[in-house]
Amino acid sequence: MNTIELANYGPVIPVIVIQRLEDAVPLAQALVEGGVRVLEVTLRTPVALKSMEAIAKAVPEAIVGAGTVRSVADLQAVRDAGCQFAVSPGYTSEIGRACLEIGLPLLPGVATGSEVMTAHADGYHFLKFFPATAAGGIPMLKALAGPFPDIAFCPTGGITPETAPQFLALPNVKVCGGSWLTPQDAVDRKDWARIRELARAAGRLRA
Ligand code: 3PG
Repeated sequence: MNTIELANYGPVIPVIVIQRLEDAVPLAQALVEGGVRVLEVTLRTPVALKSMEAIAKAVPEAIVGAGTVRSVADLQAVRDAGCQFAVSPGYTSEIGRACLEIGLPLLPGVATGSEVMTAHADGYHFLKFFPATAAGGIPMLKALAGPFPDIAFCPTGGITPETAPQFLALPNVKVCGGSWLTPQDAVDRKDWARIRELARAAGRLRA
């Protein structure tokens, strides 16, 4: 799989933090039922790897990726957990090359022209722009389009259902990421219907 294909499944990739293993499968099922199949499960909690594994086994329609990948050791672990792709908040050539070696598709994070150049030199053309809003938002993405017409972005960080359509309207934006599809209070209440509805609404966001 090439990570650019992830954009074919819908306009938003949910960035998910799972605190309790028991929530992993019903949460993923709710998103899939709402039409969101590509899931970025972040490596930010002690149950993250087990959650990825549980989702990959129990929800075959889900395309599970690992977010917050920061080291080569993380890569091997998330691949063993059944993840189909990885997302990193920043870029190092060490991670980029390791992903190419083990055949794990990577959506690498960048926030500057220098980082775009480094990732591109290592063979990456589809990049996460992170933290999107704090790092310059729409004006920055428009500015990057000039020198980098061959690079596509997945902006993530600070994007809301209200601002997502403006990001998605940019020619160099293929999909965006955000955590609003899985609010912690809804997960705590096990309000899967709410998450299903947020997923459905996200699917309608492309202008
Ligand atoms: C993250 O890494 O937490 C993502 O960028 C999500 O950001 P958000 O919570 O602002 O959507």
